[in-house]
Amino acid sequence: MPGRLKSDLSGKRPNRRTGEVAIRRKAEEICEWISVAMKYLRDDINKMEGYVPGEQPQEAGYLKLNTNENPFPPSPRVKEIFDEFLVSGGLRLYPHPLGGELRKAISELTGHPEEGIVCGNGSDDILAMIMRACGKYDQRVILTYPSYSLYRVLCQIYGLEYKEYDLVAEKDFSLPKELYVARGSLLFLSVPNAPTGTLFATADIERLISGFPGVVVLDEAYIDFAERDHLALLAKYENLLIARTLSKGYSLASLRIGYALGHPELIAGLLKVKDSYNLNALAISVGAAALRDQQHMQRNRDAVVRERQRLAGELRGMGFTVYPSDANFLLVATPKADEIYARLKGRRVLIRYFKARRLDECLRITVGSAKDNDLLLQALKELKKEKTF
Ligand SMILES: Cc1ncc(COP(=O)(O)O)c(C=O)c1O
Repeated sequence: MPGRLKSDLSGKRPNRRTGEVAIRRKAEEICEWISVAMKYLRDDINKMEGYVPGEQPQEAGYLKLNTNENPFPPSPRVKEIFDEFLVSGGLRLYPHPLGGELRKAISELTGHPEEGIVCGNGSDDILAMIMRACGKYDQRVILTYPSYSLYRVLCQIYGLEYKEYDLVAEKDFSLPKELYVARGSLLFLSVPNAPTGTLFATADIERLISGFPGVVVLDEAYIDFAERDHLALLAKYENLLIARTLSKGYSLASLRIGYALGHPELIAGLLKVKDSYNLNALAISVGAAALRDQQHMQRNRDAVVRERQRLAGELRGMGFTVYPSDANFLLVATPKADEIYARLKGRRVLIRYFKARRLDECLRITVGSAKDNDLLLQALKELKKEKTF
């Protein structure tokens, strides 16, 4: 089949007698594959790397502390909604194109009018819509580094020039002063920032928004674990968009539910560029129910925040540098980061290691339940005994 690798990628051991022929055939197939890419894909897409998600092992038995999922189950209302769907036969029908009940629940929760809300298939979908609607080809997109790497990948996909400003790493990854005079059509800020966990001062954020000529996007993916949010700024600034997700605070990463809040005219632009039915009906109903069960979310959030404090203290006690975090993960600095990551993986404990500038001596650890964190700490103690660090 042209354009596709026909070779067996199952990892089976090659037959020695036919091995040479198989290798040659595979090389030919790779050449054919590469030339198809060269022939039909855009040059910039050929050159870019693409987003690299955290590992999602499909076999059981891993302690997963690598992709900032919530260790606790979602609201019990979620199961009732699933059951109702099966009975009502609602799966046959197209969902509400604008998110219907979910949009209403977001408006109730935030006090923001429905015309100023767009729902997305995860907040990644929201970020892509913002790039499509607001990214201007003759202007830059302004990013910080290190931050969520998808911003850069989206710029590459949409052919937008971008500039990354290094956060001031010395103390606490604060905003660099050059950022306040940066110019462009869009500025993305993750608050709290991933992967550092930093919650920038509201006064600094406000200074950025008020001085920036384009749209400022506050990506509040981890805001449920932070001590303050930025909703109040929406009434003051027409160039502000706030992006949120139900993947983290509401334990619904698999259903892909995100949303953005902003000026109704900006939101109307995002609605024009979204996929026609970008949220499925289950996500709409479950998302609305989860948002309306604030008690459940806050109980889980409090438990994560308590564990974050305990885990940070224990890790510092083991000699790691732990950055302050307002999210559900900790960024930990250690010169042996890659080795610790690999050895923990060998023990089926997954944390995140980024082989990237300024992060290659860091580990990002999702805060799990008390039991998860105890298992992680036990594994680290064993590594310390073995003099891994
Ligand atoms: C900063 C940040 N923004 C957005 C997202 C995307 O979240 P989702 O697409 O699951 O809503 C993530 C995911 O990890 C993130 O770290």
